Amino acid sequence: MKKTLIIANWKMNPSNTTQAKVLFDEVAKVLKDVKKAKVVICPPFPYLSIINNQLSLIKLGAQDCFWEESGSFTGEISLSMLKDLGCKYVIIGHSERRQFLNETDRMVNKKIKAALIKNIRPIFCFGESKKDKDQGKTQNVLKKQLENGLRKIIKSDVKKIIFAYEPLWAIGSGKPCSPEEANVIRLFIKKIITQKYSRPIANEIKILYGGSVNSSNVKSFIQQGSFQGVLVGGVSLKPKEFIKLVKNI
Ligand code: PGA
Repeated sequence: MKKTLIIANWKMNPSNTTQAKVLFDEVAKVLKDVKKAKVVICPPFPYLSIINNQLSLIKLGAQDCFWEESGSFTGEISLSMLKDLGCKYVIIGHSERRQFLNETDRMVNKKIKAALIKNIRPIFCFGESKKDKDQGKTQNVLKKQLENGLRKIIKSDVKKIIFAYEPLWAIGSGKPCSPEEANVIRLFIKKIITQKYSRPIANEIKILYGGSVNSSNVKSFIQQGSFQGVLVGGVSLKPKEFIKLVKNI
């Protein structure tokens, strides 16, 4: 049985190590028995090492990375450093980084390629804004983000990428995309991958949905929407609700 992938993106939370440890422990002690899901926790960088010491079935991911190996890049974190801390996944191109830090498709592409070289699975995020949607530009915007993000990535590597469709208007808004609408996008993503690579590859890749996922709606994205997993922000900070979400898939 293929496991549903649940990625917890803690973003810039909680505010200290003690709270991070409590949050992780609460979730880990219950989730060690969950068989249907693979849970990946992506805490802020400073908490990676405390969580690394206690991994069980839960995997560790980072929220960003830099594409160079080492050198004069103040403030950046390399993939070797993340690997050393036990990261198996890395979120790349989250809309908050695109929005607040001017991260471009070109940077996203470099980061994805660098992660693939280091054998850390990239979670490639993309999505349209409310304005794009209202102007009927969703598919054009997504096509551009996908094509640019996947530039010069070969067939054997594209299968290792986890695709995360996250409409900006659904993130943190409490108003998720409907599973039907999300499924249309999922099929559109597969079409782009088929055109660029092949149908078997499009059938193999993992596509996740993210944006206001909670314990009541998670099942609809997995079952009606046919997504292979979800990316969870806000709810991943509430242990009881997050455990319920994982159990409800
Ligand atoms: P949300 O965030 O679950 O709080 O909407 C999702 C995300 O930004 O990855």
